[in-house]
Amino acid sequence: MVARINDCIRALAVKSASPSRGANAVRLDKGEFPYPPSPKVIDAIAAAAGSVNRYPPMLGGDLRAQLAAYAGVAPEQIAIANGSDDLIELVLKTCLPPGGAVLLPTPTFFVYGFSARVLGGRVVEVPRSSIDFAVDTKALLARSIPQTHVLFLANPNNPTGNLMPRAAIVELLEHFDGWVVVDECYFEYCGETVVDLLSHYPQLIVLRSLSKSFGLAGLRVGYAIASAEVAGHLYRAAQIFPVNCLALAAASAALADCAYFEKTRKQILRDRAALARDLSALGLTAFPSAANYLFVSSESLGLRSDVLVSWLQQQQVWVADFGSKQGLAPYFWRAAIGLPDENRALLAGLSSIFTSASGFRSQT
Ligand SMILES: Cc1ncc(COP(=O)(O)O)c(C=O)c1O
Repeated sequence: MVARINDCIRALAVKSASPSRGANAVRLDKGEFPYPPSPKVIDAIAAAAGSVNRYPPMLGGDLRAQLAAYAGVAPEQIAIANGSDDLIELVLKTCLPPGGAVLLPTPTFFVYGFSARVLGGRVVEVPRSSIDFAVDTKALLARSIPQTHVLFLANPNNPTGNLMPRAAIVELLEHFDGWVVVDECYFEYCGETVVDLLSHYPQLIVLRSLSKSFGLAGLRVGYAIASAEVAGHLYRAAQIFPVNCLALAAASAALADCAYFEKTRKQILRDRAALARDLSALGLTAFPSAANYLFVSSESLGLRSDVLVSWLQQQQVWVADFGSKQGLAPYFWRAAIGLPDENRALLAGLSSIFTSASGFRSQT
């Protein structure tokens, strides 16, 4: 029977659960918001818990209007989903025709390519600059053959953290003949948006998330902002109840408690600057970041990222290894900005590599 499983699914890599971590593990590998949700969010979840015997409201209920007010658009321009991961797949279900391809400036967020492959689509990759990870708009446009239907631009980009100049996005909107999806998952950390361009470019779809700045990664809430016509089509393709009622209640309370999240975000930005300085002082290269993480290279120390990452894991500190992935050299890794104590644990773990002869020896 396995032979009858769709070819595009059989071609995918096997998934395995992450190795279990101790209760005291410092988790900087998933780009999470390190603070707990605001007390008002916790109260809202508790209040909604008594009605989970009911289905949630369709189309995201009142949250649609609340997100529209937050983003400065009409409610009909919003489509809410089970995290922006879900939206990436929804956009492709809606906009990628059978046999079509997505165009990706790489390295970038892996879910774009993964979702395209799940749906039987093809992936056309165009490398970013190896110096600063800038998108090469001319090279992208040169690869935009008639069969590339959807271009994904993560802005800021994951894992590299850099922002695209607005003029480069406009250039692509002007000349790419297909859908342009600008993923603003980290919008609150940089304040840069192209939502205002939606009225000029109907092929533009903006994605946002409540995972990274409102601390709701575990509940899964993302939203697309598009023309009313496109958002309506995304909802045609969506499941009837894509977002559960605890997530809707939590998202609504989080948006109503912006002061809490603004305070924590400011702290994260201060800690990001301090961590970048401390990493540089250790001789590492921390790239400029507009998100809640730092992308780091240990090439100047000749220290491979797989060695560094497993050494840190032994110290109970988890960062993400990007060495040798998507065309990168074997020295790149990413660390989320954690709580101040967690950032100190990362620095202590790194210092211990440099002071331990066995840490260096193990890489050969
Ligand atoms: C660029 C980008 N888009 C989307 C996502 C997924 O976010 P969500 O938690 O809303 O599914 C991530 C998560 O890391 C991301 O980095």
